[in-house]
Formats: sequence, C-alpha cells, structure tokens
Amino acid sequence: MNFSDLILDWYDINKRDLPWRKSKDPYKIWISEIILQQTKISQGTKYYLHFLKKFPNLKSLANSSENEVLLSWQGLGYYSRARNLHKSAKKIYFELENNFPKKYESLIKLKGIGDYTASAISSICFNEKNAVLDGNVYRILARYFLIDKPINISSSKKYFRQLAQDLIPNKRCGDYNQAIMDYSSTICKPVNPKCDICIFSKSCKANLSSMTMDFPKKLSKNKNRVLYYDYVIFDQGGKNLIQKINSGLWVNMYQFPVFQSDSCISLIDLKKMIYEKFNISAYNIELVNENFIEHKLTHLQIQSRFWKISDAPKIKVGIYVDDFENFPMSRLMHKFFEKYNSKLSLISL
Ligand code: ADE
Repeated sequence: MNFSDLILDWYDINKRDLPWRKSKDPYKIWISEIILQQTKISQGTKYYLHFLKKFPNLKSLANSSENEVLLSWQGLGYYSRARNLHKSAKKIYFELENNFPKKYESLIKLKGIGDYTASAISSICFNEKNAVLDGNVYRILARYFLIDKPINISSSKKYFRQLAQDLIPNKRCGDYNQAIMDYSSTICKPVNPKCDICIFSKSCKANLSSMTMDFPKKLSKNKNRVLYYDYVIFDQGGKNLIQKINSGLWVNMYQFPVFQSDSCISLIDLKKMIYEKFNISAYNIELVNENFIEHKLTHLQIQSRFWKISDAPKIKVGIYVDDFENFPMSRLMHKFFEKYNSKLSLISL
C-alpha cells in the first residue's frame, strides 16, 4: 500500500472525534480552520463551540459588529484572524449573495484565507485536490523523506508543497488532509514521536537511520526580542481610563494607556513620559504588580508593569469605565486582571 492509502486506513480507525468533523458546511470548516491555525485542538474546540453558539451561520457573523466578534475571540490571540473572518463574512454574505466560494482560486482571494485555509476548505468541503501544508505536514514529510531543507525559510515551501501535492490521492482529498494532520500531531509528534507504533516505521527514512528527532530542520532565528510595556491606570473615583488601540496587533481593542520601551525604564523616566504625553505630574503613582507580567508572542516577549495613579485630573482621550465586560482586551490585560483585580477599586469581568 502507498503512503496515502496507509494513512487513510489509519484515519478510518483512529480519527479524532472533533465537532467540526460532523459537518461539511464550509462556514463551520472555515471557522474551525482559522481557530486551529494558531491554537491547540483542546483549547480551539472550546472556542469553536462558543463562537458557533454566538454566530451559528454566515448571516449572523456578517450582521454582527466587529466589537462583538472581537469579544468572542478574546483570549485566543492573533486578533487579525477575527477581524478578517468578520470582513470576509460580510463580503460573502452581502457581495457574493451568500454563495460561499468553493474553489481554491476564489477562496484565496478572501481576506484572512491563505494557501493553507483555501486548501483545507476546498478539499474538506468540496473534495478539490489541494494538499494542506502546515507545521504537522512539514514535519512528517521531512522525516519520512529525510529532507534537510529548513522548514522556516520561504524557499523551502515550494519544494514541500509540490511533494505534498504529489502524495494527495484523487479521492477523499479532505479526509487525507485531515488524516495527515491527525497522524502527525498524535503519532509523528514534535517530541516523543511514537515510532514504535508508527505505520511507516519500515519506510520512514528518519526512523530507519535513527534520526527522527533531527528532523525537520529549522534555521535558528534570533526571536527573543524583549519589549517593556508600562501601563498606566488613571483612577478617577473608582473609574479607570481605557483607550481604543488604533493600530498593530490589537487594533480596535482596548487597554490602559501604555508606554513601550526597549529597556526597563526608571520611575523618573516614566513620570517624565507621563508628563510629556498627558501634562500631568504623577505624584501619587504606585506599582500594582510586584513582578513583571510576561506575555509571549511569536517573535516577541513583552514584560509589563501596571502603575496606578490616584487623584489624577481627567484625561480627555479615552473613556473612564468601572466595568470592562463590553470592551475586548488582550490576553495580557486579562492576565493582569486575573491577578490584581482586587487592587483596583473596581471591575467586574
Ligand atoms: N489542525 C488544523 N486543522 C485540522 C484538521 N482539520 N484536522 C486535524 N488537525 C488540524
């Protein structure tokens, strides 16, 4: 039996029971694939069910506000995914008259849908022969064929893509794509791969040469950039100032005013910056979190501190609130609330 027959046979017995697999509705598959791009299955499943409860179909998503969508996405990170879902839902519902595109070529034109998602939707829902290429697929192919091209440089993509496309069978394309992802995330795992029970143990070149853990190859990149965020909480009689973020990763979400630096700044420098920006002398400033709150993003680590200023004059840019429930915020802000809520005189979340 060849590679794809073997993996499909394995899938028929071992496939994971995941809620989106009960359906071929492209809306549901789309939501699941976008969530799963940067999120593990266990956490992704919770969000998928929650998201579908709130937005059960394309119509409901297209008719919602971006704020509602971001609220449902809170905690998942990579918020551009939610913004793009919303934009593309509107496009399909209003401009394409609720006709969900079926082909890879039309899907990839939508915002937020790239090569991976277009291949997943077109194969799973419409059986179009497009192989998916995600981290799992890179790994199993690199090991099986002993490919030493680094998987994190763009020039390798073409090679792996062609190989993946050569392997996908003519029938059951969607099942095959899900099978290879399931197989590599449960058997051909990044660490502790289960080579002893692997159906390819006699043909996988990495296993045959005892080099499984040496593949896939990656070029090391200097990814440990650290930024320091100093959030400032302006307290006015129990209400705190938050501002809408107008660019970057967390655009259209909310946060306390923040100062960003490449190094950890002194309190004197922070006071100067507060004065320059808000024209306020921060006499009554105190640090709320005794240790940095850390937040890791793909290529960046944020070390954050939260400072509270009591009795400050009112600032015009932003809103003073005593309840944050209706304001989407980053996971970093929520980490702060989870630990230090009681130190602010407010807040129900
Ligand atoms: N990871 C992302 N999408 C997946 C899918 N459809 N099946 C298995 N693993 C996945």
